[in-house]
Amino acid sequence: MAFLCLNLTLPIFFFFFFLFFHLALPTPEDPIKCSSEDTNTSCTVTNSYGMFPDRSICEAERVFYPRNEEEVVKVVASASERKKKVKVATRFCHSIPKWVCPDGQKGWLISTKYLNRVLEIDAEAKSITVQSGVTLKQVIEESAKAGLALPYTPYWWGLTMGGILGTGAHGSSLWGKGSSVHERVVELRIVTPAGPQDGYAKLQILTQQHPHLHAAKLSLGLLGLISQITLRLEPLFKRSITYLTKNDSDLGDQAAAFGQQHEFADIFWYPNQHRAVYRVDDRVPINTSGSGVYDFIPFRSTPSLELALIRTTEDAQEPIGDVDGKCSLAKIATSTLMATAYGLTNNGVIFTGFPVVGFHHHLQASGSCLDVDMNAKITSCPWDFRVKGEFFHQTAFSIGLSVVKNFIEDVQKLVELEPKGFCGIEIYNGILMRYVKASSAYLGKQEDAIDFDITYYRSKDPMTPRLNEDIIEEIEQLGIFKYGGLPHWGKNRNVAFEGVMNKYKNAGKFLKVKDEYDSQGLFSSEWTDQVLGLKEGVTISKDGCALEGLCICSQDNHCAPSKGYFCRPGKVYKEAKICTRLRY
Ligand SMILES: Cc1cc2nc3c(=O)[nH]c(=O)nc-3n(C[C@H](O)[C@H](O)[C@H](O)COP(=O)(O)OP(=O)(O)OC[C@H]3O[C@@H](n4cnc5c(N)ncnc54)[C@H](O)[C@@H]3O)c2cc1C
Ligand SMILES: *[C@@H]1O[C@H](CO)[C@@H](O)[C@H](O)[C@H]1NC(C)=O
Ligand SMILES: *[C@@H]1O[C@H](CO)[C@@H](O)[C@H](O)[C@H]1NC(C)=O
Ligand SMILES: *[C@@H]1O[C@H](CO)[C@@H](O)[C@H](O)[C@H]1NC(C)=O
Repeated sequence: MAFLCLNLTLPIFFFFFFLFFHLALPTPEDPIKCSSEDTNTSCTVTNSYGMFPDRSICEAERVFYPRNEEEVVKVVASASERKKKVKVATRFCHSIPKWVCPDGQKGWLISTKYLNRVLEIDAEAKSITVQSGVTLKQVIEESAKAGLALPYTPYWWGLTMGGILGTGAHGSSLWGKGSSVHERVVELRIVTPAGPQDGYAKLQILTQQHPHLHAAKLSLGLLGLISQITLRLEPLFKRSITYLTKNDSDLGDQAAAFGQQHEFADIFWYPNQHRAVYRVDDRVPINTSGSGVYDFIPFRSTPSLELALIRTTEDAQEPIGDVDGKCSLAKIATSTLMATAYGLTNNGVIFTGFPVVGFHHHLQASGSCLDVDMNAKITSCPWDFRVKGEFFHQTAFSIGLSVVKNFIEDVQKLVELEPKGFCGIEIYNGILMRYVKASSAYLGKQEDAIDFDITYYRSKDPMTPRLNEDIIEEIEQLGIFKYGGLPHWGKNRNVAFEGVMNKYKNAGKFLKVKDEYDSQGLFSSEWTDQVLGLKEGVTISKDGCALEGLCICSQDNHCAPSKGYFCRPGKVYKEAKICTRLRY
């Protein structure tokens, strides 16, 4: 009964605070902490969620903060002369996997925090040149001031341009060269380690004609430090957005075609509710009236009280198997988002109806929780680990258009078997489907595809299974293994990277460039070598490993037998091995 009450009051909280409680905020916590602050030594680094997939703590001997290319060259030379392991860190470290960890405690970090200047906007050539620590927000705002636009970008603007290129981040489009930011790179300057004859570091200037650009524009941070990036822009334009909610019975048929029909199409899918929300989003003539703004609600600053309440509810529902509670929470979350058009407004203040027409730079990306002053801890980004709030895993992979219908239909078979098993995902706004195109980047998409993005509850205790664990694990294995999905490099648990390099036809070319630029592997770590397939061990076998996506279970103890979860085959994908709850 108590839960029921909580579930019913929760939506009201949601609604009330989302709509009326917008404080200005603090900047996020620096992911790097040093015990000696004067010298920036004895440091730890984490991601913005405060936890890597394997929950390891990552140490570094020192952090450096270069402010220009010359200083970058100096610090890379110094690392290379001393044969130090190094990693490039950013002011955010928003990637979930531990790309940012240097090996051992003696490694160095080079932060791009102060490589934060826009260097040039060339209105005639329609391009922007930035230092690599510049944020997406800066690029969007500065370009717009010059009447220009970066057409396709991630939806969250709290990312650095170096980090975006590092992981192949994207928005959603099948038009032109597609939605990946790295497709717009016209020049990239990267500082690599070198021998004594070159002063231990080398500045490589890669123009569009240079074959190594295919490696460097999506490098996982393994080739060296990207100091400067030049991107091709377009004249600023306006867009018109309408969200269309439909029954999802023909989603498999619609998905691929919908991406061809609208330039900025994407889809939110709520499987248990049998609903798909289609984003009908296209360019319109610049004189179309409208001053719409998209301030995506999940990226807004949220009251700590509300975050704690939701987390407490989830924590309570999990161990007692309160699936219905999850489903009501999901309905509330979804209907609140739909009723508020996910944070779209027609004029920056209120939403009065579709279509919402506005300038591209007011609609493409958002992240207002970044501006809030967090020190008071009254509001924060929902995943800020300094408050009790969201704590989740994220599974994200792209499935080729040629087989995406089959994948969707397989997931729908799972929905039929266990519809409520999907409510946990719907609490985190369902499955986000976005369009990506085949890329010339060696580690980029291999064919035109739909990227599926799934966020779900993670316990603070690594040995605690999640409710309907089996559903999410089966989707993960269906996508990654049965349909050969390509994992998003900046998201995912370790299982998604199992054998990943075999999926890229130019993986060998990437490794060649890596050997040429960083023959000693200073920018690599044991973990990155495992992902690249150069070393064993990207997945590991131990008690409870499947709960955290550190392995695919092959024995019951990889799940949580004492809590009723055993290793069993999938229900739709029989080859899958998933942690299934057999008893309470
Ligand atoms: C709220 C949120 C929303 C998101 N939305 C999207 C989305 O819409 N679309 C999408 O595709 N992704 C999205 N992501 C994932 C995001 O794109 C990636 O995690 C991104 O790489 C993180 O950027 P960052 O600046 O924090 O880089 P980091 O995570 O710090 O770094 C990523 C990698 O790039 C390397 N790197 C960074 N800078 C340099 C440099 N100058 N030179 C060499 N290597 C470098 C790092 O070493 C590391 O390997 C989202 C993430 C969050 C938290
Ligand atoms: C130490 O780090 C801070 C940023 O946190 C930076 O401003 C300062 O310059 C660094 N000091 C040294 C000696 O590198
Ligand atoms: C969805 O639409 C199909 C046909 O368009 C119909 O057969 C089906 O009953 C609908 N499902 C729901 C849940 O409305
Ligand atoms: C927009 O401009 C075009 C020509 O540039 C004109 O034909 C059209 O009528 C204008 N539309 C509006 C809504 O002003």
